[in-house]
Amino acid sequence: MSIVVPVHSEPADQAEPLLPRLAGIGFGGDYNPEQWPEQTWYDDVRLMREAGVNLVSVGIFAWALLEPSPGSYDFGWLDRVLELLHDADIAVDLATPTAAPPPWFFRRHPEARLVDRDGRVLGVGGRQAFCPSSPAYRAAAARITEQLAVRYAGHPALTLWHSHNEYGGVNAHCYCETSAEAFRAWLRRRYRHLDDLNDAWGTSFWGQQYGDWAEIEAPRVAPTVVNPAQQLDFLRFSSDTHLDNFVAERNILHRLSPGVPVTTNFMIANCKWIDYRRWAAEVDVVSNDHYLQAEQPDNHIELAMAADLTRSVADGRGWLLMEHSTSAVNWQPRNVAKQPGELRRNSMGHLARGAESALFFQWRASRSGAEKFHSAMLPHSGTATRVWREVCALGAELARLDELRGTQVVADVGVVWDWPSWWALELEWRPSVDLSYLERVSAFYEATWRGHLTADFVDAEADLSRYPILLVPSLYLTTAAAATNLAAYVRDGGTLVVSYFSGIVDENDTVHAGGHPGALRDLLGVTVEEFLPLREGERVSLDGGESGDVWAEHVVLDGAEAMRHYLDGPAAGGPAVTRHRVGNGTAWYISTRLTGDDLSVVLREAGLPHRDGLPENLEIVRRLGPAHGYLIAINHGDRDATLAVDGDELLTGARSSGEFVVPAGGVRVLRSQRARM
Ligand code: GLA
Repeated sequence: MSIVVPVHSEPADQAEPLLPRLAGIGFGGDYNPEQWPEQTWYDDVRLMREAGVNLVSVGIFAWALLEPSPGSYDFGWLDRVLELLHDADIAVDLATPTAAPPPWFFRRHPEARLVDRDGRVLGVGGRQAFCPSSPAYRAAAARITEQLAVRYAGHPALTLWHSHNEYGGVNAHCYCETSAEAFRAWLRRRYRHLDDLNDAWGTSFWGQQYGDWAEIEAPRVAPTVVNPAQQLDFLRFSSDTHLDNFVAERNILHRLSPGVPVTTNFMIANCKWIDYRRWAAEVDVVSNDHYLQAEQPDNHIELAMAADLTRSVADGRGWLLMEHSTSAVNWQPRNVAKQPGELRRNSMGHLARGAESALFFQWRASRSGAEKFHSAMLPHSGTATRVWREVCALGAELARLDELRGTQVVADVGVVWDWPSWWALELEWRPSVDLSYLERVSAFYEATWRGHLTADFVDAEADLSRYPILLVPSLYLTTAAAATNLAAYVRDGGTLVVSYFSGIVDENDTVHAGGHPGALRDLLGVTVEEFLPLREGERVSLDGGESGDVWAEHVVLDGAEAMRHYLDGPAAGGPAVTRHRVGNGTAWYISTRLTGDDLSVVLREAGLPHRDGLPENLEIVRRLGPAHGYLIAINHGDRDATLAVDGDELLTGARSSGEFVVPAGGVRVLRSQRARM
């Protein structure tokens, strides 16, 4: 099959390098030499060089070794590690070890232990067992951060600071008394007057009016549902609390180690509880950890979504893939190993979408501890292994892709993403337990991926003008500002596609007045008179041949026209999909859960572009640099694909004669000769 794929149209500016002290695309991973005798370090460094490693993250969980007892430090071993790495020309991403306070810390400060929603004080012996609001934790974390910064600020290997590890990963929320006190202080800053809090939380419902700030508690498990607005604020407070902890470390590092960027590894799309958009504004470099959902078919689509989301919170700039795995992880129910070639496709998938590194957890497989069955760059079986060979091959290939750094990913479509809306939608007592934020966003994203498109994830309050089409899956919580912005976007010529259960409540989980979908009602030209959730397994048919499940609605047209009707089910005869022309644009509404081809058909009718003729499993991403365009093609299928593109192939060095084969399971990176077209 021969298909013409336009590589690029407009030249883009080359961004500044993400890590000024790193010469190429970052390749390496978490390096935990403290788990090994010192003579092993020499083997490590030799093998790292063999594999092409140029960047490692060191010291992430080494607090107990660096500060064996309170206030006494041992940096000798870390000095030697850094020197070895530096001598081998391997750059260091030096971690603050604050994700794993030493045992002495918890013995001294039992009050700093995490308390769960049931009020249970959780045990230690793992990691992140601390309360994020604990003053003792904060003081201890600041001290070890200062010590590290003072000692290593001028170290020639130091390229990046890695603050903590996956903030909020397992201690997102703490319900202890210290946390409740911090929550009250946060609420006072947010509302200033108790009356305003009572209004915002709608406390006249169930007689919950607060007469004193001291009466407010963290929303622990209660006999029935706790005020959802209170829960939502507690989730905001918790994300902000972890962010405060990051900012405190970052400020120390900036002060004592000026000029060295600071990052912390996100768990985007996996950690529901951290509002990474707010965090991205605070880090010097965005970095992300990503692990495949191993058992899920086509899990490379979720990988692409996470990578696009990471680039989007980084405002389109490059970002670091801080962790992924060479093969299986150890913490999923069935830890399916990667197939030959999958590691390469995965790394390249991140790279295509803006990553400027392919780093792994971890360099050498651990013999002890909780993660000994997790894959590594250097497996337990050593170098005579497929994984090691694939690691070395990847290292060699990345060195050929340097020129991708700083080039910009070209997005075809915008998708609205909002963490607080996710939180709010999934609180208790929604109209159906089958409502899921991630499910809807993933379904819409999958439709763009299957159309061979690239998506940016955007804030509904941001500038949307660069997107001809904008998808809005499940924006349950819609602020007035977002609604105004979306309306302006449509009036100015944009095409908007909104899914059910959007526009329903404001930032306090209060229903917008006047009927659903409140904030978007005028824009969509419909009123939803009643939600009609479906029974488990029940399906409804539409007159276009599609069918939906989970959800239906009694939709009343109020300016919009019906593009599909329900043929059966509780809304039989009523509109199911609608279109409303507003100004120069169009606002579509889909009132049932469409998936797969059914969703794609409707989205295409609404104007979602698609690149016809490309093989189903071919992923393509376009990049623009100052002089060249690039096309990265990843073939997830089992048949070769042919692309009609002019250019040079960077991995094989082949020169185009107008056609490029992307082998089954393979990857190709094409540099267009048609510069500045
Ligand atoms: C996370 C952590 C790592 C490790 C990996 C295992 O991403 O940051 O320390 O536990 O998961 O997949």
